Amino acid sequence: MGLKDWRNDTEYMGYVADLLVAPAVQKLANYTQHHFSTRLEHCITVSYVSYKLAKKMNLDARATARAGLLHDLFYYDWRTTKFDRGTHAWIHPRIAVRNAEKLTQLTPKEKDIIMKHMFGATLCPPKYSEGYIVSLVDKYSATSEYLMHLKQKTSSKLHYAFNFAKVSK
Ligand SMILES: [Fe+2]
Ligand SMILES: [Fe+2]
Repeated sequence: MGLKDWRNDTEYMGYVADLLVAPAVQKLANYTQHHFSTRLEHCITVSYVSYKLAKKMNLDARATARAGLLHDLFYYDWRTTKFDRGTHAWIHPRIAVRNAEKLTQLTPKEKDIIMKHMFGATLCPPKYSEGYIVSLVDKYSATSEYLMHLKQKTSSKLHYAFNFAKVSK
């Protein structure tokens, strides 16, 4: 099953379907995460890729899928909103945990995965292997979403330049 087939993955859906339909999660579709992907798309990608890796490694696939989905459960634009109490990297995992706890009962492992997903930008290492998976997949997905945006921008510029050259011949 490919990484885009998460809807047809019955085991995965068994772990996250109740969360996915919740308005608190659906609301993430209103926020841009990395240039052209919504925060909801980003959270689903991080959740499903991490879940697949956790399964391959015989780790806790349920906790990985759920915490991956909820890891960025916050509702502000991180490019424009600044906090006095700390950086976005430090604050948003705490907000995500608080919002997630209103939605579902988190296990200590799920809470730790969400809280420490910014390891690298913060100095707090995850307590569990599943936390390292989500943290790495999050970084990889942020980078690949940005590269895809750059690729599209470059190809549309090239397309424009090519058409301009054709017209001015
Ligand atoms: Fe995050
Ligand atoms: Fe993220």
